[in-house]
Amino acid sequence: MTGVPPRRSIIERSLSVTQRRWAFTLLAATATCSALVSAPVRAQTHRLDDGLARTPPMGWNTWNKFACNVSERLIRETADAIVSSGMRDAGYRYVVIDDCWQVYRDTSGTIVADPQRFPGGMKALADYIHSKGLLFGIYTDAGTATCQGRPGTHDHEEQDARTYAAWGVDYVKEDWCNARGLTAPAQYKKFHDALVATGRPIVLSICEWGSNRPWDWAAGTGHLWRTTDDISDNWASMLYNFDLSAIHQDVAGPGGWNDPDMLEVGNGGMTDGEYRAHLALWAIAAAPLIAGNDVRTMTAATRDILTNREVLAVDQDSLGAQGWLAEQSAPGLQVWTKPLKDGARAVALLNRTAAEAEMSVDWKAIDLPPGRATVRDLWAQADRGAFAGGYSARVASHAVVMFTVTPVRSH
Ligand code: GLA
Repeated sequence: MTGVPPRRSIIERSLSVTQRRWAFTLLAATATCSALVSAPVRAQTHRLDDGLARTPPMGWNTWNKFACNVSERLIRETADAIVSSGMRDAGYRYVVIDDCWQVYRDTSGTIVADPQRFPGGMKALADYIHSKGLLFGIYTDAGTATCQGRPGTHDHEEQDARTYAAWGVDYVKEDWCNARGLTAPAQYKKFHDALVATGRPIVLSICEWGSNRPWDWAAGTGHLWRTTDDISDNWASMLYNFDLSAIHQDVAGPGGWNDPDMLEVGNGGMTDGEYRAHLALWAIAAAPLIAGNDVRTMTAATRDILTNREVLAVDQDSLGAQGWLAEQSAPGLQVWTKPLKDGARAVALLNRTAAEAEMSVDWKAIDLPPGRATVRDLWAQADRGAFAGGYSARVASHAVVMFTVTPVRSH
């Protein structure tokens, strides 16, 4: 491979690195090369500094595969499978029950779990999950009712937070259905404060779908915040959510993460190559990695995708930078990059087109010096050698080639 000199426009060369990141991420979202939009200047909200979610949370959630069909048995069996499949040891820690576990409030206003589906109760279930070396998550809604019509937490914030803490909950996802008349920043802050008041460390996942500009305020309130509407199990939806989240690259970091929604890996709507791209892009985006498949019955291929240590290490890198679009050589042929703590770069060559393509990255485009750098392919888990200037690879349609680039230091 040889280094291909980058073709940069004058406008592009005159932009600062930060502005370039903005411009390119905006380009990704709008899929047009015709105009560069000047970078909006926005005040940075300080991210939470409570030691929780220093790297993007990883876990599993019921919604994408099971919707309302949740039960104690499903959760226990899944916890077992998360351990036996190696997912726990790869980093997936939070086992989260999404909507439909709750049925009503009792006379004292305490939220009640469905006694048919959860006969042992939530405390015992949390204990079981903890005994497996995992953490327990639950879902609620900031409004009067959840998206599926179950009791919401509005006007019961402190009471629900205390109930969850008593059960041993480690993570709460708070949705935004039936919240008319409420103000998102205030409502989520109220629930955050209620969680803090319990004294139990609990991750807060803000889920208002990007509808109240959470990138402007959520960082001081929650550990992750959805930037998009719900993902669907197909290539277009996955890319759509990824692109929308990429726009807000600058606000993410240790303690607070943009959330393009949970993973669909293994749910059957995409090819394994597309699922590899899905995980790779979420890793480049430093996105929370919340698996959403049936872990009990997943194929070896799905397991291998979800547990690829080198791809997961990109997501979990302690620098905590969200990656950005570095180059787009032709419509649909994109180079995404994420700086890593050790000075290396993760790179994903993303082929969004219907045909295989030869793709390349220039070291300059990923802010590295032009000299030699070693390339390690993360999906193949293979060293490719040292290359000066850049690197090329053939990338299948609807796929990524993902690698790290580590400059060779001269002594
Ligand atoms: C919303 C959320 C989803 C899921 C459902 C549950 O649509 O965005 O992630 O929690 O509600 O009803």
